[in-house]
Amino acid sequence: MIKLTNLTKYFGDHKVLDDVNLEVKDGSSLAVIGPSGCGKSTLLRLIIRLVYPNSGSILVDNLDVGKLSEDALIGLRQKIGMIFQTSALFDSMNVYGNVAFSLHVNTRWKEDKIKGIVAEKLKMVDLEGTEKLMPSELSGGMQRRVCIARALAFDPKIILYDEPTTGLDPITEVTIENLMIKLSRELKVTSILVTHVLQTVYRVATRVAMLDKGKLIEIGTPEQTKTSKNPVIQKFITGGL
Ligand SMILES: Nc1ncnc2c1ncn2[C@@H]1O[C@H](COP(=O)(O)OP(=O)(O)OP(=O)(O)O)[C@@H](O)[C@H]1O
Ligand SMILES: [Mg+2]
Repeated sequence: MIKLTNLTKYFGDHKVLDDVNLEVKDGSSLAVIGPSGCGKSTLLRLIIRLVYPNSGSILVDNLDVGKLSEDALIGLRQKIGMIFQTSALFDSMNVYGNVAFSLHVNTRWKEDKIKGIVAEKLKMVDLEGTEKLMPSELSGGMQRRVCIARALAFDPKIILYDEPTTGLDPITEVTIENLMIKLSRELKVTSILVTHVLQTVYRVATRVAMLDKGKLIEIGTPEQTKTSKNPVIQKFITGGL
């Protein structure tokens, strides 16, 4: 379970997250929606301690993320796969090097074993046999899928997706949504999904949280969000029409 308690984050004197309380139960999939700049990516970055909160706490499976030693933090990051908003592949490494990166850094496994894992993860994102391609040879959607394959390397129990389907063609979007659904239903992965793409929210999420100006203003099922009377949510969902 992921539990955020009274989480507040400032950058300088800009309050980006304001006293956020949130629980994500094991095996569930929480979508976080809200306008650009409302703190969604920051929320994900706090969970893997890329940034620290000013106050409040983050528990992941009852471990207090803020208090972990550097070694324990590496263990936590292996348990959590993160798909970053910008694809963040290493340009100088081919697809194989990118997907295998954390396996090479964090294990002493034989290359044959790593090759098998990379091939399996690439197959999951419909990119079989692309090991030798360089990131510059991939389309944006393919790069996104390589990032997902990389995030799956350690079979994470938790996945944090930051805009996984934004800007993709409809077919790739559905492929990625289907993968997210499979990971959550079959492998019982717990996930937080940050996205502007409402189709992805409605297909994948079990709960939806709306952030606005750093505050969590409502949380409920996708159906409850669709029919919410809150004008801020209605405006977000309908685009103000
Ligand atoms: N490292 C940083 N230093 C200073 N300000 C930051 C930093 N990271 C984020 N911010 C600011 O925090 C606010 C929230 O940023 P964040 O990236 O969390 O928004 P977001 O909800 O993910 O937006 P988008 O939908 O556009 O991706 C923004 O005003 C941003 O400028
Ligand atoms: Mg963002």
